[in-house]
Amino acid sequence: MKIGINKIGFSTSHLYVDMKKLAFARNEDPNKYLIGIGQSKMAVVPPSQDVVTMAANAAIRILTKEDRDRISFVIFATESGIDNSKAAAVYLAHLLGLKNEIRAIELKQACYGATAGIQLARGFVALNPENEVLVIAADNARYGINTPGEPTQGGGAVAMLISQNPQILALEEDSTAFTQDIMDFWRPLGKTEAVVDGKYSKNTYLEFFEETWQAYLDKTGYSLSDFAALLFHLPYTKLGLKALQIALKDAQPSDTVRLAQEFEHARFFNSEVGNLYTGSLYLSLLSLLCNSEKTKAGQRIGLFSYGSGAEAEFYTGIIQPDFKKGLAKVDYNRILNLRKEISVSDYEQLFKQHLFSVQEGAISYKEDPAPFFFSGVHDFKRQYEKRGKKPSPNIWDKNV
Ligand code: HMG
Repeated sequence: MKIGINKIGFSTSHLYVDMKKLAFARNEDPNKYLIGIGQSKMAVVPPSQDVVTMAANAAIRILTKEDRDRISFVIFATESGIDNSKAAAVYLAHLLGLKNEIRAIELKQACYGATAGIQLARGFVALNPENEVLVIAADNARYGINTPGEPTQGGGAVAMLISQNPQILALEEDSTAFTQDIMDFWRPLGKTEAVVDGKYSKNTYLEFFEETWQAYLDKTGYSLSDFAALLFHLPYTKLGLKALQIALKDAQPSDTVRLAQEFEHARFFNSEVGNLYTGSLYLSLLSLLCNSEKTKAGQRIGLFSYGSGAEAEFYTGIIQPDFKKGLAKVDYNRILNLRKEISVSDYEQLFKQHLFSVQEGAISYKEDPAPFFFSGVHDFKRQYEKRGKKPSPNIWDKNV
């Protein structure tokens, strides 16, 4: 039985900062951010969005009534959770109007979480072939104003339906995983921004790639010519390029040209949004599917997942004939173009206004056009709302 990604949907903030302007504000050469880091825009998550609302906004782009009836498990991967006890998946299932006869859990291992969710979902579908699993990858990547990590911030959510006979990507059997207890990036309880040893994290990411990639090649006997594209977790797109260059060492020119071209398509959305943490690899998959004209049924795609702390996995899938249908006719290039640019000082204000932890208060960010939004904390309870009518400017029309 084929099992894999049946549908994929994405949502991010309607606001962004231009990386050239951020570079000027930080007294950096813009090319450091544009080329050295590989980012052109950075999503600014307003205080009216959190992982639950971004997940709901991503999921409604793909879910039909039939999907809602078939979903029996919601796996919510995040490292920007909003409660130490209650799973974000429970809030989400309610907002999406899913039935009560389901399981709903939250899963964490930094940016590796969503990959763990997909593998778990795959096992669940193998045992329950008529069921679908909704896997969410949602995060708000925060390092702090004027920190080295700042140009690698971002945020958003990817929603994926895992089912039998998937429309997009059928997962293959083999995969290679690697885990080691290291302190490259973490977020101690009570802190709203990550603690990171940036240069060390960069090196461990590349080492974990070499480890899992080589182990995968040894296990399967595949070589570069067996892959149509290699996708990477993209905390910033230059790091994926560095990993690709490791894979391309000693490559035939035809493999280098093909994989380098596909990487450019696969990193485009990430360069426009920034780090989604656990959703980044899957935003890159979406970017490839939306932007490459060479993608076709039967091709093998390799996926490298990395989560600090650290854990990595390399696995593969085969593109399916109906992969375009699995994107639910959403035009993500247009959605990203319709976002609003804000100044560096407006971004700094919004960055400070988030209500985390046990803070009480109301959020009144009225310009947020997203269907689902967060309106504040009352009696320690987070308040979520859905707009009654279509907002304007409307980046939420079905065909956009
Ligand atoms: P930095 O130290 O300020 O930057 O921050 P740098 O000096 O290393 O420069 C960055 C690159 O720009 C370098 O290229 C420079 O040469 C180049 P590289 O050596 O890497 O090839 N550069 C220029 N290029 C063109 N024109 C110029 C120019 N100037 C410089 N004028 C750092 C970089 C990554 C350390 C920082 O952004 C950071 O701390 N980021 C956050 C941590 C991170 O993203 N780590 C990635 C691996 S860990 C991971 O992926 C997991 C994660 O997603 C979390 C999770 O799992 O939950 C983060």
